[in-house]
This record gives sequence, C-alpha cells and structure tokens, in this order.
Amino acid sequence: MLHVDVDEPGRPREQRFEINHHAYRLRQSACFIKGGITCISCHDPHQPLKKDPRLANVVSVCLGCHQRHTESNDCVRCHMPSRRTQDVVHVVMTDHRIQRRPPPGDLTAPLAEHESQVDDVEFLDRAEVPEGAIGELHRAVTVLRSMPRNDAATQYLARHLDVTPSLVPRFDLIAAYLAQQKYRAVLDVIGTLGDEAKKDPRLRDWRGIAQVGVGATGDGLADLQAAVDADPDLPNFNSISRPCFIASAETKKRCRI
Ligand code: HEC
Ligand code: HEC
Ligand code: HEC
Repeated sequence: MLHVDVDEPGRPREQRFEINHHAYRLRQSACFIKGGITCISCHDPHQPLKKDPRLANVVSVCLGCHQRHTESNDCVRCHMPSRRTQDVVHVVMTDHRIQRRPPPGDLTAPLAEHESQVDDVEFLDRAEVPEGAIGELHRAVTVLRSMPRNDAATQYLARHLDVTPSLVPRFDLIAAYLAQQKYRAVLDVIGTLGDEAKKDPRLRDWRGIAQVGVGATGDGLADLQAAVDADPDLPNFNSISRPCFIASAETKKRCRI
C-alpha cells in the first residue's frame, strides 16, 4: 500500500483543510512528528466528544509535554482553532495541525460553494515509494481512479503493466479505456489475460460493453448476459449504460446522460 495525496492548484499541503482531515493535519504537527502524539492521546475519536472526560481538561495533556507559557488554559483556541472546511463549506472542524500561530484571517468566515479542483495526484511520502516503475504504476492507477480520462496515466499504465503479474492495474486500465470509450484497447488488454481472469463477472461485463462498442453486438450481449447470470448482485453493473446499448429508440431517449 502506497499513500497518495492530491495536488490542488494554489493550495499547498500545509494549507489544505478538509472535513476528514484530522489525521492528515495531526500528521503535519511537530507534536506528532517529534512527540509521537496519537489519535488517542487527547480523546477517543470513536466516542462522541462529550463522552470523553479528557477533552474538558485537554490542557493537562499538553502540559504533559510542554511548559506553561500563559495563564490561559485555552491552548486549543490558539493552537488548534476551529476552522471552516474547504470541501464541506457549511461545516466547521477543529484544526488538528497544532501550530505556533493559527493561519491568518477569519478561519470560520463563510466560504462560497465551489467545485473542487484537482491538478494531479502525488505520493504522500516519497520515501515510502519503492524504486522503479512499480511505484509509479501505483500512482497511475490512483490517478485513473479519480481521473479516468487522464492521458499520461493511461499511457504509463499501458506501457508498464509487465512490472507486475497482478490483475489490479490491468483491470484499472480496462476501466479507464472504457471510460474513454476506447473499446478496441479494452479488448486488447482483455486478450492478454488468462482464462481464470476472463471468468470474472466484472470483466465479462466490460468485455460485453466493449464488444457492443465495436459493433460485435451479438457477442457483446452474450457476455453481458453471462455477467449478470454469474453475479446478479454486483452493484456496479453499469446499470446506466447497459440498457442504453440494447435499447429501443424510446429507452435511448432516457439514456442521454
Ligand atoms: C506527547 C508529547 C506532546 C503532547 C501531548 C503535545 N505536544 Fe506539542 N509538541 C511536542 C513536541 C515534541 C514538539 C516539538 C518541539 C520542538 O520542536 O522542539 C511540539 C511542538 C508544539 C508546538 C510548536 C509547533 C511548531 O510548529 O513549532 C506547539 C504550539 C505545541 N506543540 C502545542 C501543543 C498543544 C497546545 C498541545 C495540547 C493540545 C500539545 N502541544 C500536546 C510534543 C507534544
Ligand atoms: C492534541 C489533542 C488531540 C489529538 C491528539 C487529537 N484530537 Fe481530535 N480533538 C481535539 C480537540 C481539542 C477537539 C475539539 C473538542 C471540542 O470541540 O470540544 C477535537 C475534536 C475532534 C473531532 C470532532 C470534530 C472536530 O473537528 O471538532 C474529531 C472527529 C476528532 N477530534 C478526531 C481525531 C482524530 C481522528 C485524531 C487522530 C488523527 C485526533 N482527533 C487527535 C484534540 C485532539
Ligand atoms: C492566546 C493564545 C495562546 C494560548 C491561549 C496559548 N498559546 Fe501557546 N503560543 C501562542 C503563540 C502566539 C506562540 C508563539 C510564540 C512565538 O512564536 O514566539 C505560542 C507558542 C507555544 C509553544 C511553542 C513554544 C516554543 O518556544 O517552541 C508551545 C509548546 C505552546 N505555545 C503551548 C501552549 C500550551 C500548552 C498552551 C495551554 C496551556 C498554550 N500554548 C496556550 C499563543 C497561545
């Protein structure tokens, strides 16, 4: 497992603050990096805050490692301020990046709703990435899972599949080609897989879509049927796209998505 992080235009990692960033932010704190503080040092995150008596007196946790430099017991107000999250703009959370000074400005000021913008995906920690193409292969897979039309990642994956026998990057490449409507490429990758893999209902579903896509409708429908028979409960069964391939003119109207 390799950890990745997104690159947002104009917002370096130290400035990112999302609703689910307690660990992300604590990880950036000197109290964690040098002091080894953990998620259960101050409270149990699996309990409602009110139930954990330690929080009411969190100053005593701080003072377990630090010397008092002020009369105030409200260390949290200055060093872990409440802050509006960038991704869920109607919510305010506690910034778990423990800093000398809070970031400038009014941290709880309203934020306009906006689409999030992701430029790229990078490794969270380069040091944990193995040498050679296998690391970069992981990254390309991750890029495609969030941006299935990304050209560079698609090409990288296509060129470096041979660094691992794992089916995972192959399935991801197929899924990306499907999203890009490159049906021949889908069939080419599937052609390189062994018989066992080809029985996978997801793969049969994808192959069916690709075959219909290249005009081999009969074979495609047979694959789609086989996929549904093999695993009727697979939730992700392209329930939107499949009826559109098989559809009458009437259904096709509904399929314009
Ligand atoms: C397990 C020990 C530990 C606990 C508990 C702890 N810290 Fe720290 N903290 C550290 C260490 C170690 C450093 C780094 C000191 C250094 O660089 O010399 C640090 C650094 C800091 C800094 C300076 C940050 C910076 O970037 O320069 C602040 C402010 C701070 N802590 C506040 C707090 C507050 C407030 C609490 C309680 C909510 C707390 N700490 C709890 C160990 C701890
Ligand atoms: C240095 C002390 C400290 C540590 C360590 C700590 N928390 Fe917190 N946490 C707080 C404080 C203080 C609050 C705000 C309490 C309040 O509002 O009464 C809080 C609040 C929360 C909340 C409620 C939502 C919010 O943001 O206000 C969640 C969830 C949470 N922490 C999760 C975590 C997780 C997960 C970790 C480990 C990554 C963690 N905490 C580590 C001090 C800590
Ligand atoms: C009114 C705001 C405020 C409160 C309350 C506050 N601090 Fe600070 N603290 C600061 C500021 C500002 C600095 C940075 C001082 C500097 O950089 O010269 C700081 C610095 C620190 C440092 C870094 C000191 C160093 O020399 O490296 C630690 C540790 C710290 N505070 C812990 C605490 C603890 C523990 C509490 C609660 C008992 C607390 N603070 C309460 C504002 C506050």
